[in-house]
Formats: sequence, structure tokens, C-alpha cells
Amino acid sequence: MTPQHLHDVLVIGSGAAGLSLALMLPESVRIAVLSKDGLEEGSTSSAQGGIAAVTDAGDSFETHTEDTLRVGSGLCHRDVVEHTVAHGPDVIDWLVSLGMIFDREDGELHLTREGGHSRRRVVHVADATGKSLSARLADAAQRAANIELFEQRVAIDLMTKRKLGLTPDGCIGAYALNRDSGRVESFQAKFVVLATGGASKVYLYTTNPDVSTGDGIAMAWRAGCRVANMEFNQFHPTCLYHPHAKNFLISEAVRGEGGRLLLESGERFMTRFDAREELAPRDVGARALDHQINRSGADCVYLDISEKPPEFIEKHFPNIRAGCLALGIDITREPIPVVPAAHYTCGGVMVDLEGRTDLDRLYAIGETSFTGLHGANRLASNSLLECLVFGRDAARDISNRLDEARDPPAAPSWDESQVTDSDEDVVISHNWDELRRFMWDYVGIVRTNKRLARAAHRVDLLKREIFEFYSNYKVSNDLLELRNLTVVADLIIRSAIARKESRGLHYTLDYPDPHDQPFDTVLSPVDDAEGFLVEPVPLRA
Ligand code: FAD
Ligand code: SIN
Repeated sequence: MTPQHLHDVLVIGSGAAGLSLALMLPESVRIAVLSKDGLEEGSTSSAQGGIAAVTDAGDSFETHTEDTLRVGSGLCHRDVVEHTVAHGPDVIDWLVSLGMIFDREDGELHLTREGGHSRRRVVHVADATGKSLSARLADAAQRAANIELFEQRVAIDLMTKRKLGLTPDGCIGAYALNRDSGRVESFQAKFVVLATGGASKVYLYTTNPDVSTGDGIAMAWRAGCRVANMEFNQFHPTCLYHPHAKNFLISEAVRGEGGRLLLESGERFMTRFDAREELAPRDVGARALDHQINRSGADCVYLDISEKPPEFIEKHFPNIRAGCLALGIDITREPIPVVPAAHYTCGGVMVDLEGRTDLDRLYAIGETSFTGLHGANRLASNSLLECLVFGRDAARDISNRLDEARDPPAAPSWDESQVTDSDEDVVISHNWDELRRFMWDYVGIVRTNKRLARAAHRVDLLKREIFEFYSNYKVSNDLLELRNLTVVADLIIRSAIARKESRGLHYTLDYPDPHDQPFDTVLSPVDDAEGFLVEPVPLRA
């Protein structure tokens, strides 16, 4: 018998998006929060630079909006940008009320600078904003009597009324693998929120933690929701290049505070690519590094902040300094070897301003979602802002709907009668490596029609193999992640093939210029042989 849980709201994911939503719901609401790993394991706790918000008297909502729109290369939805930016100060106040202590100078919030921002705007806690944010949210959630936290639970798939033969369709819960017991449990609720983070683990090199495997996007897609703009994967220009470093980001704030990008010879090169030099938006920066590395055959380029006094470096970048020092690199005296790496999923599950998806009672928030905020390229530090603002909006919408919502109809137990234990785990590890490598090589920073066609062919083969594996063997975390990554890779490739222009993060040698009319790439799941409908949707004015 499948262990059963029943709550008012099921939140899948315990990052900034999931926990802020849970904490902003009324205390009378019974909430379950699932984490695939430990409570604080996710991109949120890795965040370095900070949170972009208008807090300075000399700044304005208009300027933050314009910076976001410019970096988004014509694809941001203006109404969403204005809405998100306008609520920045409220969510920063909310975090302060939770006990978060941002860096200050002379009593005022210290604001750092990152690429694409026309002024200093990013509130932060040294270079470990995410660690502090995650700790505050986790602490508050642990103390809240109405929030039940379930760690080591991997959501597998959503339960829908359609699967029970009921109409109208709607989400009624999710099945989740308990990694400790090995059993599948059933979590049912009146409302379900996907807050599972991004999908950058689909690439071989990434700044993201292991949990970022696009599970929410894949689950929503399988449940019938549309996804949009999956071709826009953001590559961060500066990830540490070192054989013993895994996913070690060197924050853009290092460049914001004066760090210079250099070739091995010591020559600066960003001056040749963009007038904003080291503070050009990330699409420009990542392409410039990729170009230099490929042209010279070098393994990496270098980021040098050593001209700043050691006390300044220690004050602003204590964690980056300590992490590099542990690997034998003293950043107060020498440049840091860096390469670009996959960093952020700009596309995702389509939602409205309340975080509602296409499926009734299913919400998506944070990096899993596509709100229209980021367009073709995300402005630095706008992601945590989006998590918090949409966490708040979705919480309000759910609490307004709770009174009229009934308990969900009971769903059947998870059926394992037709599957056995796998004796071929090598299939999973081989396909993991193959998928991430061809995504990096063929669907990376610079694309072509031929490379995308090769990737499409390979992902089709993998999809078939994994479907067969999933149908015959008991689920494991690795199998579930691989299944989801394959869906996400497919969505990225289809979207990239559909975009016959270069814009923002999507750069293809076959169509180097942007179209006049900007459009979103919207994918709809349909029940034909292909399973896809790709639609270019013109932006609303
Ligand atoms: P996450 O924080 O990634 O949380 C995802 C949650 O979902 C986790 O709890 C995970 O366990 C859970 N989960 C996933 N799949 C499942 C499943 N199947 N079942 C159950 N649970 C599941 N943005 C900024 O704005 N400013 C920054 O300074 C910044 N720096 C960054 C630095 C790094 C190194 C990285 C990687 C990202 C950075 N970003 C930054 C981006 C930002 O951190 C993320 O976009 C944001 O934290 C995403 O939050 P989230 O709540 O959507 O997801
Ligand atoms: C960074 O600190 O460079 C990351 C900021 C972000 O991804 O928004």
C-alpha cells in the first residue's frame, strides 16, 4: 500500500520560490514541502551576487525596468517586468523582517553592480547571499507549525483528474520516491505548486547543483502544460576552471567591483566585443569567452581582481577567496582561471501573473516557470527577485481560492507489480553522460542547423531507450532525473530549431540576425506521433 499524505497545498521544491510561497500562505493552511535532497540543497543556496531591487533614492522602477528590457533583447513582457520590479522593495523588506541581514555601509544597504545594470542595484550578503537567504527561509519554515517538510522525496509525476477519467481536468497531487525507504508515496492536495528550479544539469558544464534537472518542467509537460522559450539557456561567463572544482561560480560582482578579463598573455579582450566591456550582459560575455577560448585553443581565460587591496577582496568576496585558496589560487595576488558554464533556464512552464499554469490547481514559480520576465536573456540577480515576487503572488491567489476548493478525489496507489529491479544501471550512467555531452557540443553557446539536427536525432534515440527502461524497471533517483533531462533536452532542441534568428542567448551561425517581429517559442503537448506543436507567438504590445 502506498503511504498517503493529504494537505491543503503541496509545494514541490524548497528553494527561494517554494519556501517563500509556503511562508506567505496563512498559518491556517496545511502545507507539505518536498525536497529532492536536503532542505537547503538547490540553486538558491549557491547564489552569490544578490537580489536586484530598487532601494536607493537615486534609482527608479523605470531604470530597473529599462535595464531588464534591454538585456532581454526585445522578448521580455513589459507588464511582467513592471510588476516584478515594483514589488522588489516589498520582498526585500519581508526578508529583513525574517531576520536577513544584508551588507550595509554607513547605515545604508550596500549595493553591488553586475552586468547589464546601468547602476549599482544589487542587495547582497558579501558573496554568499543565497546561503544566508536559504538559511533564513529554512529556519522560518522549520518553526512554522503548519508546514511539514519532507526531505529526500523525489516527485515523479503529477496526479491529474484526467488520469482518473474525471472532467474537468485538474491537478490533485503527485507521486514521490522516498529515497530513504525506496518506496513511492502519494501526496495529495487541493493545490500543487511546482518550485523545482532550473534544468542546467542538461549541460556537461554547469554552475548548478545536482538537483537542477528540470523535473518540474518535465512533469508539467507530461501533465499537458505548455512550456515556452526553452532555447534561452543562460551561460555564465565565469565559472572556475580547475580539475578539482565542481560548479564553482566566480560571481559577476567580481567584475562589477573592478575585475578584468584577460588572456593568458595578460591582454584585456572584452574591449573588442562590447562598449560595456566586463559588464556587458551575459550573452555577450559568454560568447566572447567562447570565441577567445576556441580561437586560441587555450583551456580558459583569466579574471583578475588582484589590483584591489586584499582587505577589499576579503570583505566583498570572502567565500570566493577561501574556495580558490583551498585550490591553491590566491585571488589577492593572481588571476583566476575561468570558463563559461550553463547557469540559468530562462524558459519554463508557462504561467500568468499569479503563477497559474494551464492545468487547474497547478502553479509554477521560480526558475521552473516562464513568466515573461527574462525575455531572451536574464538580467543578473533578477531571478531571486522573481522567485520572491511570484512566490508572494501565487500564495495570495491560492489563499483566495482555498475556501471554495474541495479535497481532491482519491488517486490509486503506485503500481509496481509490472516492474523489476534494474540489473543494467550502466544504461543510465552512459545515457546521462551522452546527453549532457551532446547538449554541450551541439546545443551550446553557438548553434547551427546541422548541430541541432544531430542533437534532435540523438535525443530521439535516448527517449525511446529511456521510455523502455522506465516501463520495465523500478524507479531510482538517477533514472527519474535522466527521464526528465531527456524531456527537457528535447524541448530545448525543438525550440532552438524553431527559432530561425539570433537573439539574446540563442545564437546560430545560420541566422546571425534578429527578426523584426519578436516572438516567444511556445510548445504545446499534443497527442499525435510527434507529441509537439511548436508555435511562434508574437509578443503582446
Ligand atoms: P532552487 O533553489 O534550485 O530549488 C529547487 C528545489 O526543488 C530544491 O529544493 C530541490 O530539492 C527541489 N526539487 C527539484 N526537483 C524535485 C523533485 N523532482 N522532487 C522534489 N523536489 C525537487 N540569481 C540571483 O538572482 N542572484 C544571484 O546572485 C544568483 N547567483 C547564482 C549563483 C549560482 C551558482 C547559481 C547556480 C544560480 C544563481 N542564481 C542567482 C540563480 C538563482 O539562484 C536561481 O534561479 C534560484 O535560486 C532558483 O530558485 P528556485 O526556488 O526556483 O529553485
Ligand atoms: C553571480 O553572482 O554572478 C550570479 C548572479 C545571477 O546569476 O543572477
